[in-house]
Amino acid sequence: MSAPGQRVRWHPVRDAQELAQQACERVLRSAEAAIAARGIFSIVLAGGGTPRACYERLRAARTDWSRWRIWFGDERCLPPGHRERNSRMAGGAWLDHVPLGSAAVHTIAAERGAVVAAGAYAEELSRVDEFDCVLLGLGEDGHTASLFPGDDWGVTPGSPDALAVHSAPKPPPERISMSAARLSRARCVLFLVAGQSKRRAVSGWHAGEQLPAAAIAPQAGVDVLVEAALLQPGASD
Ligand code: 6PG
Repeated sequence: MSAPGQRVRWHPVRDAQELAQQACERVLRSAEAAIAARGIFSIVLAGGGTPRACYERLRAARTDWSRWRIWFGDERCLPPGHRERNSRMAGGAWLDHVPLGSAAVHTIAAERGAVVAAGAYAEELSRVDEFDCVLLGLGEDGHTASLFPGDDWGVTPGSPDALAVHSAPKPPPERISMSAARLSRARCVLFLVAGQSKRRAVSGWHAGEQLPAAAIAPQAGVDVLVEAALLQPGASD
């Protein structure tokens, strides 16, 4: 079961390494289909630590990198190049090592501050139709991207494509996030979920709680690669 309006396909995996391998294979299948159909593959990257192993695998992929367009689901308001920025993590693990065109990577200018950067990113996003693939993580409280419980997640169709976040419980407090509505405009949405600390969020999501992750509702539904142990009833955190 999951929240009304969201179709979820749960895919248990043995461990974080299998999760990374399956995520990498899914991304490459999505890329191959998009490039064959439309000549371009637009992907939204997840931040945090879980996707790193997937990004490292993508570094070795045999694909036409000139057809890839990279977006970020969210960014932390830190100086450019700061090691805690989501774009820095993706760059170090993958993007800096493959021949993407400089115009292919759409970083969020988070150093300009949440409000200005969200407005600028929303302007860029207004020129982009449906994403081919959106990667997302899951926080311990059920957050995804930088959509946190208690905030406005931008669920309605008229919501801005990018939101300024000012009081994120996960540091830093100032962030920019794509809205739930924008993240839902995708042919494929893939969550990557690993780590014992996510158990409570996974069980709440599975039980249909109104969490930010449950607000991502693309027409095709969402796929969740999740460590199998997190789906087993066990001691609550
Ligand atoms: C961030 C991410 C955030 C992340 C989750 C899971 O800025 O940290 O956007 O949504 O995906 O918090 O993080 P981990 O993968 O590190 O557990």
